[in-house]
Amino acid sequence: MKHELSDQLRLRHVEPSDHERIVAVIDRWWGGRPMSCRLSHVFFVHFQPTSFIIECDGELFGFLLGFVSQTTPGEAYVHFVGVHPDYRHLGLGRRLYGRFCTVVGLLGCQTVRCHTAPQNGLSIAFHSALGFDVDPGDDVIDGVSVWRDYAGAGEHRVRFVKRLSFAMPQERHSAWEVFNACLAETRAADERPAAATHACAVVAPQSPPTASGW
Ligand SMILES: CC(C)(COP(=O)(O)OP(=O)(O)OC[C@H]1O[C@@H](n2cnc3c(N)ncnc32)[C@H](O)[C@@H]1OP(=O)(O)O)[C@@H](O)C(=O)NCCC(=O)NCCS
Repeated sequence: MKHELSDQLRLRHVEPSDHERIVAVIDRWWGGRPMSCRLSHVFFVHFQPTSFIIECDGELFGFLLGFVSQTTPGEAYVHFVGVHPDYRHLGLGRRLYGRFCTVVGLLGCQTVRCHTAPQNGLSIAFHSALGFDVDPGDDVIDGVSVWRDYAGAGEHRVRFVKRLSFAMPQERHSAWEVFNACLAETRAADERPAAATHACAVVAPQSPPTASGW
């Protein structure tokens, strides 16, 4: 059953206690694929500034887990994005990516990467709609370019890449600064009337890049 989105929608950073909640639903959200074993607690402890959930009245509606590359600092990577099956096609996945891109833009990233299984047509359609390009691989499955054995033997993957159109911030911010600015914004939003609580603005020490197109 599809639902309307409530004014009580809240987008916030993940907390360690969210791990268990997501483990409880992720296999079902992925259509029965065993994904929970790949959901590391590490994201909920060490990647809080770049990982988010959307919830409403305590119910989990969606989540995105990502990080800034340690190897290539101008790049960010999304490990998982998922939306409750009853709340799909309402723009929540787009909204999660929008917040992620705003934050990693503030951290100096201009490129976002992710990958998905070639069988996951929904994910391919979603990322294509969000402006991701397929990073050409070494084989083609079902008309899509893939990287063979990318995630292990027989585990081929479609790699996606998106160049952010953000103007670079004049000054780069540390993850800690951005995290604290976001937490302050979330707290302020919680204190505002309900209609304003799903604003995705990020308060930052300098003018944030605009998230045009999200
Ligand atoms: C992929 C997923 C996160 C999309 O979330 P969502 O909230 O439904 O997506 P949105 O409503 O923000 O859709 C954004 C765009 O993606 C496209 N899209 C989303 N679902 C689609 C579908 N089933 N078929 C075709 N296009 C789709 C649409 O073009 C949409 O743009 P529009 O609203 O302008 O039409 C969600 O379907 C999901 O959780 N799937 C299972 C988990 C998964 O496979 N995650 C991705 C791999 S990590």
